[in-house]
This record gives sequence, structure tokens and C-alpha cells, in this order.
Amino acid sequence: MLDENAVAKAHAVYTPFTLSIYDVLVHGLSNRFAWRCPTRRLIALYRDNLSSHHLEAGVGTGFLLDRAGTARLSRLVLLDANRNCLDRAGRRLARFKPELHQVNLLAPLTPDLAPVNSVGLTYVLHCLPGRMSEKLKAIDHLRPLMSKGATLFGATILGRGIAPNRAASALLDLYNAKGVFNNREDDMAALSDGLRQRFDEVAIAEEGCVALFRAT
Ligand SMILES: C[S@@+](CC[C@H](N)C(=O)[O-])C[C@H]1O[C@@H](n2cnc3c(N)ncnc32)[C@H](O)[C@@H]1O
Repeated sequence: MLDENAVAKAHAVYTPFTLSIYDVLVHGLSNRFAWRCPTRRLIALYRDNLSSHHLEAGVGTGFLLDRAGTARLSRLVLLDANRNCLDRAGRRLARFKPELHQVNLLAPLTPDLAPVNSVGLTYVLHCLPGRMSEKLKAIDHLRPLMSKGATLFGATILGRGIAPNRAASALLDLYNAKGVFNNREDDMAALSDGLRQRFDEVAIAEEGCVALFRAT
């Protein structure tokens, strides 16, 4: 059963203040010094996989789309459980005229949306509560919004089977204690198996503590 309290804890941390420091903290410092996955690798993942009709699930500040989006992005749908994230990312990405929808990815999605050709899901799975099989329900909820042959891509910070440095260990302890992360049991095998059960083609790579994936 869905633990509403755990779902809320995983996104309630994103206030206007925390979002104002998010890019520096996550994409500036943590990716480099803790997770050891350079932000340029994430931006490259977006540049390589963004289609003209894109849906982003779990938008944060909209940083990656801002860096990677090009004029060929003609339709952009942003989904998030947190209104502050939608508002901030919506303003930042206003040039793409985004459609904003406040939704919980762990519950069936109700918005009646035309299917897209690509879906981004970055740094969301490690936030979601539950085992990997429960987290991946988010993907099951997104699949009806993907056209045939559409690509799902993104990244997630793993909690098991990695070699975290001191900074990464401290952040994993802190964020899991606060319920902002729920990734103690997340490993490459569970992610890879879950994606392969759902998609024909799966590419998955590990960089530092991060799994980067692409599935069609
Ligand atoms: C760590 S941030 C990642 C933001 C962005 N993708 C990035 O890489 O910078 C996680 C995002 O997922 C959203 N989120 C967390 N749990 C969610 C849920 N159950 N449903 C929808 N969005 C959720 C948060 O509000 C936040 O915007």
C-alpha cells in the first residue's frame, strides 16, 4: 500500500528556499564531490535523448532541460508532486511554453495527455519510497503517455553495490534519515531487471554512485 507520509517526505523538502540553492548544491557540488558523476554527463544524456515532444517527470528546478533544451523542443510537459518545483521550472523553461501538472508518480496518472516521444526521469527514483519494484510503478504510470518507440531516459543515485566516498556516505545517511532519499536497497541489478521487464532495448551505465539509463 502507498505510504502517503513517505511519499510526501520525499518531495516536501523542495521549498522556494531549498530550490534557490538546489542547482549549486546538487549539480554544482554533490555530483562532482559526492556522487562522482559529472553534471556534464547528465546534460549529455539529455542532449542525446530529448525528442521534440518531451515529458519530464520530477522537474526540480528544470536545470537539465534548461541546459540541454533546443529550439526543436516543440512540446514540453512537466510533471511533479510539488507545486514549488512546477512553478520554478515552469518559469525557467517558459520559452518552451510547458504544460504543468501536479501529480504523484506513484499513483495512476489522471491527466489526459497526448503521448510524447521521450520521457526524462532523473534523480527521482532514489527519492521514491519502497523497493525498486514499487518505485518502478512510476514508470508503469508513465508508459501510457509514451508513444510507440518512445524513449525513457534518466539517472538515479544507488544506495547498494557502490563505493561511496566520505561525502557520499554522509549525504546518503542524512537524506535517508530524513526520508528525502529512500535508496538503501537500490542497486544496478534491481534497476536493470525492472527496466528489462518493461522495455525491449535497455542501456544502463554506472558512473560513480549513479546509474544512467535509457530504455525504448
Ligand atoms: C532530486 S529532485 C530531481 C530534480 C531534477 N530531475 C534534477 O535532476 O535536478 C526530485 C524531484 O522529484 C519530485 N518528486 C519526488 N517524489 C515525487 C512523486 N512521488 N511524484 C512526483 N514527483 C516527485 C520532487 O518534487 C523533485 O522535483
